[in-house]
Amino acid sequence: MSEFYRIAKLPPYVFAVINEMKAKLRAQGQDVVDFGMGNPDGETPSIIVDKLVEAARNSKNHRYSMSRGIPHLRQEMVKRYKRNYDVDLDPEKEAIVTIGAKDAIAHLLFAIIAPGDIVVSPNPAYPIHQYGVIMAEGEAHMLPMPDAATFLQGLEDLYNKPAEKKPKVILISFPHNPTTTCVDLPFMKEIVRLAQLHGSYIVHDFAYADLGFDGYKPPSILQVPGAKDIAVEIFSLSKSYNMAGWRVGFCLGNPKMIYALSRIKSYLDYGTFQPIQIASIIALRECEEETIKIRDIYQERRDVLVEGLNAAGWPVTTPQGSMFLWAKIPDRFAPMGSLEFAKLLMEKALVAVSPGIGFGPMGEGHVRFSFIENPHRTRQAIRALKPFLQA
Ligand SMILES: Cc1ncc(COP(=O)(O)O)c(C=O)c1O
Repeated sequence: MSEFYRIAKLPPYVFAVINEMKAKLRAQGQDVVDFGMGNPDGETPSIIVDKLVEAARNSKNHRYSMSRGIPHLRQEMVKRYKRNYDVDLDPEKEAIVTIGAKDAIAHLLFAIIAPGDIVVSPNPAYPIHQYGVIMAEGEAHMLPMPDAATFLQGLEDLYNKPAEKKPKVILISFPHNPTTTCVDLPFMKEIVRLAQLHGSYIVHDFAYADLGFDGYKPPSILQVPGAKDIAVEIFSLSKSYNMAGWRVGFCLGNPKMIYALSRIKSYLDYGTFQPIQIASIIALRECEEETIKIRDIYQERRDVLVEGLNAAGWPVTTPQGSMFLWAKIPDRFAPMGSLEFAKLLMEKALVAVSPGIGFGPMGEGHVRFSFIENPHRTRQAIRALKPFLQA
């Protein structure tokens, strides 16, 4: 247990156990097929890299940049929202550049949450959704999400409990990591209606905005009329443009929340390195086709993995969005729990997955596969899993 107050509230990182096992096996020369982390393996489109190199050569770009992002980049993001969602945003007051979505979520929570404020989010979830709240000394109120309708009902029930303190913030993310739950615009309308009625803000983490499969287009919460009065959306370049290492994201929508975030960030950072911001303008302006290619690559991998696991005797359902498969642990292995099961997959089949428990208490009973291995290696993993599953 750490002597430091905030650190003591953070549990050990469950994924580290699997990462260490993987590193050990690889050091022994073993070929581990790694579906663990949602870390895109594809390269950033070359015109973005070329722009970075060009901008990096200009010494004007070596100085401190702007914490809330250079105006051209904010304008380009706003144009993309108009093009893709027919949403109007003011680049001055309703858009801020962040150091990825993670920075946006953590610092926004830090900016808007007071000790004891309730933040409701589905669980399991991307860890910062829970621990960002805990680090900001809020109260993380988790609702189960076997499906979107159950989550919505849980939220409504929570609001209807007379004695309960009302949630300050609803923190959601669709397509959802790790459960892959996807929603439609009527769902977004309903959640905005509920939050408006009860005086909550909404933060929508839209990290998988461009990863909808089979013609499904994930809706932006800002498409809901009036959403801007209470909601912000967080967009990221990490998955849409294979730019995870570049650390570029946005927070868009409600001007009060954006202002609060800009105040906090002005104390904490000087913005992303300016050549990265300049190259990001090219991504948003000229790489729409690339996002489609990236999505199609994930869709093909999804199909190989889902078909293969089903054929090998592990029944899984096909996700409509995100870059993950959320697989229920086969019944006979379920009692051992997701961490032990993930360790077993590594030992017996040299396959790395993320144990569901790492995504919060309600993640137990599942493991998550990321689509970061190509079809050939995915088939190799399935061949290795088959005898183990059928033994
Ligand atoms: C739901 C969710 N939000 C945010 C992120 C992180 O995005 P970024 O790289 O922009 O910080 C991830 C990454 O896996 C994620 O799954």
